Amino acid sequence: MKGTILAGGLATRLRPLTSVTNKHLLPVYNKPMIFYVLEAMQRAGIKQVLLTSSPDHNGDFANLLKTGDEFGLRLYYAVQQNPTGGIADGIALAEEFAGGEKLLVLLGDNIFNFNLRNTVSEFEKKEKGAVVFGIEMDTDSKQYGVVEINDDGKVLSIEEKPEKPKSRIAQTGIYMYDHRVFDFIRKLKPSARKQLEVTDLNNFYLQEGTLECKIIDWWIDAGTSYDELLRANMMVAKKVQEGELK
Ligand code: DAU
Repeated sequence: MKGTILAGGLATRLRPLTSVTNKHLLPVYNKPMIFYVLEAMQRAGIKQVLLTSSPDHNGDFANLLKTGDEFGLRLYYAVQQNPTGGIADGIALAEEFAGGEKLLVLLGDNIFNFNLRNTVSEFEKKEKGAVVFGIEMDTDSKQYGVVEINDDGKVLSIEEKPEKPKSRIAQTGIYMYDHRVFDFIRKLKPSARKQLEVTDLNNFYLQEGTLECKIIDWWIDAGTSYDELLRANMMVAKKVQEGELK
């Protein structure tokens, strides 16, 4: 199984912090934001990772991360020509790189300490399907993709930023896909915000009955606002002091 990390977007919500810098290079306590997902790939046992980013900042990532040796990975880089084409548009860049293997996708602004290794091993044995990872939110879930599951853990629906969320479970930026993901992306149409949406992609698997949802413990999307970036910094600082994170 291979990995891809998405670090495109324009991060307009974080300007002027992101006027000349890619948001995934901003600090979260003692490291650049992008380090957290690279470490997550390493914990998951993934060895080859494609990092996609905007044309302006691809070189910055290569300067910082080089071959990926520091993370025990072999890193490859790709340019997303339209950096706001959508998450599924970014994933599409990994088709050749994936070479028919399954794919672990991580959004570059997500921070979590859940170990994906067991789910990777289980998923590698499966013939087909996809896995999304959800988290029960204390606050409102409507700024995220919202996952509705029944008592047996079966996914009933996923909606992107719904007005009236059907559950408090937010869809995180952690996804696993079989090799057919690129065929499904080719069938996607741009959404109202002119993006190829990861939620629409996941809905193909849901309709087919091959989508699973795993619930994780803590997670933060550090890239949505100044407040969430600050909360991520404080949360990581506390976890470093408590010894949970390095
Ligand atoms: O973080 C989880 C949420 O991420 C999910 O709950 C939503 O279902 C999903 O749509 C997404 O929501 P956002 O609208 O908040 O995504 P955002 O635009 O912040 O982009 C998420 C990451 O993906 C960010 O690290 C930048 C990267 N990205 C985004 C776009 C639109 C790309 O690399 N290329 C893109 O074209």
